Amino acid sequence: MSVLSRETYVAVIGAGAMGAGIAQVAAQAGHPVMLYDTRPGAAAEGRAGIDRQLSRLVEKGKLQAAERAAICNRLHPVDSLEALADAGLVIEAIVEDLQVKQTLFQQLESVCRSDCILASNTSSLSITRLASGLQRPEQVVGMHFFNPAPLMALVEVVSGLATAPDVAAAVHATAQAWGKRPVHARSTPGFIVNRVARPFYAESLRLLQEGAADCASLDAVLREAGGFRMGAFELTDLIGHDVNYAVTCSVFEAFYGDPRFQPSLAQKELVDAGRLGRKSGHGFYSYREQAERPQPAELCSDAPVDACTLEGPAGILQPLIDRLRAGGVAVNGRAGSGLIRVGDASLALSDGRLASQRAQEDGLPNLILLDLAFDYATATRLAISWSADTSNQALEQAVALLQRAGLRVTPVADLPGLVVLRTVAMLANEAADAVLQGVGTAADIDLAMRAGVNYPCGPLAWASAIGLANTLQVLENLQHAYGETRYRPSLLLRRCKAEGGSLHD
Ligand code: NAI
Repeated sequence: MSVLSRETYVAVIGAGAMGAGIAQVAAQAGHPVMLYDTRPGAAAEGRAGIDRQLSRLVEKGKLQAAERAAICNRLHPVDSLEALADAGLVIEAIVEDLQVKQTLFQQLESVCRSDCILASNTSSLSITRLASGLQRPEQVVGMHFFNPAPLMALVEVVSGLATAPDVAAAVHATAQAWGKRPVHARSTPGFIVNRVARPFYAESLRLLQEGAADCASLDAVLREAGGFRMGAFELTDLIGHDVNYAVTCSVFEAFYGDPRFQPSLAQKELVDAGRLGRKSGHGFYSYREQAERPQPAELCSDAPVDACTLEGPAGILQPLIDRLRAGGVAVNGRAGSGLIRVGDASLALSDGRLASQRAQEDGLPNLILLDLAFDYATATRLAISWSADTSNQALEQAVALLQRAGLRVTPVADLPGLVVLRTVAMLANEAADAVLQGVGTAADIDLAMRAGVNYPCGPLAWASAIGLANTLQVLENLQHAYGETRYRPSLLLRRCKAEGGSLHD
């Protein structure tokens, strides 16, 4: 089965936020679309909402008025399931309830053609389970759009145990023809995105709980060094803590309590308090009128620093060295293992050990650890931590040096892996396990995280850029520091390192 022709009738069931968006996408792609909702008037309201969205595009000059009219003419609110008999593809976006969805699919089987594809936009229910008990489970597939559907490119095409490969292939090809970026995923808890993204929230929540820094500082580091659109606290405030916490709990339970997905008590407390984020006016931040947005912590130094020494190859820190030179700092070279020395201070990229532990083990007094940046050439901020023996003078010299590279410096407590490095290592670890367990291919998982949650880089490509051995070392050191299986490195990372292979083979 290949891409569905434009003449194919698409039926969308549920005219809420997602259903209306999906109907718009299908109609914009040229299909006649039938929209059905059990709530009287909801389908017509959905169509009117789409019309308003399209009119805005016309006003902005992004859509021709004639095109708007043509799209709207392809949208048909219907008031009975029987009206969907000619559909070649049904996408349901109704309430997230297994029983209700199963009942709907049973009704659809008796109404629709036998070759009709029955797709679900569920974000958390098992496609295998949804399809069980149906007469044609091979026709059932997940077609998981992201919110808002007309804007977000990713579609997870989710195959349950019984889904026919050509059904998944047809939905994939059709999503592509609609201008989306589809990926294949096996029906496992959280599919790709809702599983692989868990550490993004979990590591920030843990860092906060362990006093690494405040929310504003951690968010700023993830944005300005990590290249993420938003930090974890501002993002969960936007998503809603009830929603984000519920997804974490559902993935945690679905994996039989694997500590990797353990929900956060800090987030539960917010939910318990009704501090659900923007929608309730208060989450990690306050959104009340006149509430002041807290600023990230920043170290400033006016220590005179004109030269430093780079011992050994800079590795991924090379763009930082280039920025120092561009800032007028003389960088002398010497053999060594990648340290930057300035005055009394030694600066090094974190390897996941505590600064104080590494200072002792490697005999490096005044050790300043640098966090990861997505791109050291363009980052505007960097997090640092330092060993307990670090003198004020050494710290000031280190901060002054980083300022010469044009960086704002945010202090974090001495915790393993700092902020961005630890987050990215854990994202890559989860992505690697998802590949190992056949949830998706490495390329699809990286694409999903870029297109579905706007990460600046796929976690596996990012781990390759950091270096497989370095990523693995960070995870091993995290695991050692915490003594928890939460940080156990994925077998796939170990295997790739042992075989000298790449994560994308
Ligand atoms: P919503 O509450 O905005 O809309 C659901 C619509 O379905 C309502 O209009 C309701 O009247 C209708 N409905 C309920 N039961 C029905 C039935 N038996 N038959 C026909 N219509 C029925 O919900 P939303 O946010 O659009 O979510 C819908 C689905 O999409 C859920 O499965 C959800 O998990 C999934 N999803 C939601 C995302 C989001 O960000 N909101 C993102 C991706 C997936």
